[in-house]
Amino acid sequence: MHDSRHTRVLSGMRPTGRLHLGHYHGVLKNWVRLQQEHDCFFFVADWHALTTAYDEREIIGQSIWDLVIDWLACGVNPSLANIFIQSRVIEHAELHLLLSMIAPLGWLERVPTYKDQQQNLRNKDLLTYGFLGYPVLQSADILIYQASAVPVGEDQVSHVEITRELARRFNYLFGREPDFEEKAAAAARRMGKKISRLYAELRRKYQEQGDHEALGEARALIEAQQNITVDERERLLGYLEGTGRTILPEPQALLTGASRMPGLDGRKMSKSYGNMISLRDEPRVVEQKIRTMPTDPARVRRTDPGEPTKCPVWDFHRLYSGQETQDWVLSGCRSAGIGCLNCKQPIIEAVKAELEPIRERARAFEDDPQAVRRIVADGCEKAHSVARETMREVRAAVGLDYR
Ligand code: TRP
Ligand code: SF4
Repeated sequence: MHDSRHTRVLSGMRPTGRLHLGHYHGVLKNWVRLQQEHDCFFFVADWHALTTAYDEREIIGQSIWDLVIDWLACGVNPSLANIFIQSRVIEHAELHLLLSMIAPLGWLERVPTYKDQQQNLRNKDLLTYGFLGYPVLQSADILIYQASAVPVGEDQVSHVEITRELARRFNYLFGREPDFEEKAAAAARRMGKKISRLYAELRRKYQEQGDHEALGEARALIEAQQNITVDERERLLGYLEGTGRTILPEPQALLTGASRMPGLDGRKMSKSYGNMISLRDEPRVVEQKIRTMPTDPARVRRTDPGEPTKCPVWDFHRLYSGQETQDWVLSGCRSAGIGCLNCKQPIIEAVKAELEPIRERARAFEDDPQAVRRIVADGCEKAHSVARETMREVRAAVGLDYR
């Protein structure tokens, strides 16, 4: 199997309503691409939805299935990616609890989304324990699968950063068994006399003098060993860097390319602005929404020339139209040679054509809720078996494996 299959990619979405074109272009096309090359875990973050929507349970219940259907309709393929629901893998909650023991309050209060969301959702009491812990729960989601890459938008980067910090802190606090030093020494001996002496020398240079070249050399030396186990390798790396064993590896944020989807009014497409085209909008609704889109405000009459760069319709042309059509818009608009409805027609066609197969697939899944349930049950089971393994190690590291 190709090597990158072993990079595990994980991402989640909160179930807070139907998805729109912005999700398709900004997130889902990327997921569909990633599932071809990586071991992907995509999940519905229903507990995260509860941190802010704790008084709107009905919305979450319905949105879960809508969300999964939208993913499937956009091409997320259950034979390539695991699709599951957070609350059905109960281990997320256990890891969240254990991480909360070592999560400094200062770190959580400094996460930008903490204050921002409180500002944005003023009508809601977000001074809750659960909401403060939002990034801790997200860290648990990521670390429990030992994911190496987390595709997210700009707004989530701080959460991945805190995940990395919590992993580091966890490994530092719990990654060293009581007899860690002896075990590291035993692992070193298994590399043979000469190499283990070199290892000790490089380690000393790094730890005593901060020599980063020595660190790099020692790392390469360990990686090159054929006859040591994975555990021994981790121990040697941990002992080298002074961090202990890596129980929870640090993930990387995978920034989703900034193809910002414009909304119908020129602002970013977003449910809260009411400027969106839903993935399951009927063709006549799509048509209606685009026909009534605002245009360059200076173009009051058909005979007034306009300026495409001041028009939200132009943003759509840049996304959907080829060079020829774009040239037609630029000159036709500036010379008042075309009307706004003519100008919008190619967009109407392009969006309808894009959504047609998505709507069709969504309809098939809407008509077969059992199939959707089965896909999710499968995904939950696979997710569960990975999470269970990680928790076994985590409990042992924390010292909770007494029976
Ligand atoms: N907080 C993310 C959002 O609002 C959703 C989420 C929850 C998530 N857990 C995650 C994303 C883990 C990536 C990885 O979009
Ligand atoms: Fe906008 Fe097109 Fe009308 Fe020009 S012609 S104002 S680009 S809709």
